[in-house]
Amino acid sequence: MNKQEIVAVLSDATKNDWLFKEADRIRREYVGDEVHLRGLIEFSNICKRACKYCGLRSPNKNVERYRILKDEILVYAKKAVSMGYRTIVLQSGEDEFYDTDKMCEIIRELKKHDIALTLSIGEKTYEEFKAFKKEGADRYLLRIETTDKNLYNQMHPNASYENRVKCLYDLKSLGYETGTGCLVGLPNQTIDSLADDILFFKELNADMVGIGPFIPHNETPLKDEKQGDFWLALKVMALTRIILPDINIPATTAMETLNPNGRIIALQSGANVVMPNVTSREYRAKYEIYPGKICINENPEQCRGCIEAKIQSIGRTVSKDKGFRNTKKESD
Ligand code: SAM
Ligand code: SF4
Ligand code: FES
Repeated sequence: MNKQEIVAVLSDATKNDWLFKEADRIRREYVGDEVHLRGLIEFSNICKRACKYCGLRSPNKNVERYRILKDEILVYAKKAVSMGYRTIVLQSGEDEFYDTDKMCEIIRELKKHDIALTLSIGEKTYEEFKAFKKEGADRYLLRIETTDKNLYNQMHPNASYENRVKCLYDLKSLGYETGTGCLVGLPNQTIDSLADDILFFKELNADMVGIGPFIPHNETPLKDEKQGDFWLALKVMALTRIILPDINIPATTAMETLNPNGRIIALQSGANVVMPNVTSREYRAKYEIYPGKICINENPEQCRGCIEAKIQSIGRTVSKDKGFRNTKKESD
């Protein structure tokens, strides 16, 4: 599909049913019916950046900040492994407390388990990415957020679009399974730029793509803006499946926040991954990137049971393997 065709599909509501069915068919053909669960540990909500949409931005003083230290991270990981998770995702704000040495130590300990490890800890230098890879990190998630450079610069004070792109190519060149993605519904975002986002995923040859609707947070400069449209986010996701047929695509938490059945709808429109939270309840509400986040009153066992039942209710199964894009790596 070229850009014109992508724009045409995104702009035409009469194509929605065709698009979702086609993405579902391609998902089944290329990655099968198994759903990969990734156990998410949100280990710090401290962030030095000031992304205008995010509740964790540093200027927000109305959030109780926390850090989970190595030993406690290991407890959650061990529990996740015992519940059958084969991937752990470590996510945080850009928190300089976890310097290269501290992160390497955490990675080393986590990789003693037979799991794939994903990092989602923001922009780092090439040397840092290299050090994490050497310790055994397998994957990295860093959304480009938007490929509209002007919009990117408006949304990210004191940050550089070029550096975001450089990080993604550095991750690719270091052999990470590289995940990216975008927000849908940012103020002044156009359909044209969403089409560019999809083409960017293709150009990068992203291994994973997470698409989330923008949800305004009261303690941010975007508090009075309109929230993103669930269906438009779903369309961007479905088109991504058609254009990159064999990648991993999560049914995102933000989608379920806007639609009570959002993750199941996403799993039936191209997605094949879900990322349940595996940390204890005490931290969940504090990792408030946007309001209304799901699962803040549940514990890891409840989430695991809940999501497994949902997956089974649509005739799909939870995968028992690590769920790399390139399945050859499974025997490594
Ligand atoms: N700090 C790391 C980073 O930014 O890459 C990882 C954590 S960050 C909270 C993870 C993702 O949350 C971001 O990539 C962004 O797309 C999403 N996010 C932040 N604020 C959001 C909002 N208001 N609505 C929807 N998604 C949001
Ligand atoms: Fe920090 Fe990530 Fe939120 Fe930006 S999106 S403020 S980098 S946690
Ligand atoms: Fe957490 Fe359903 S996945 S309650």
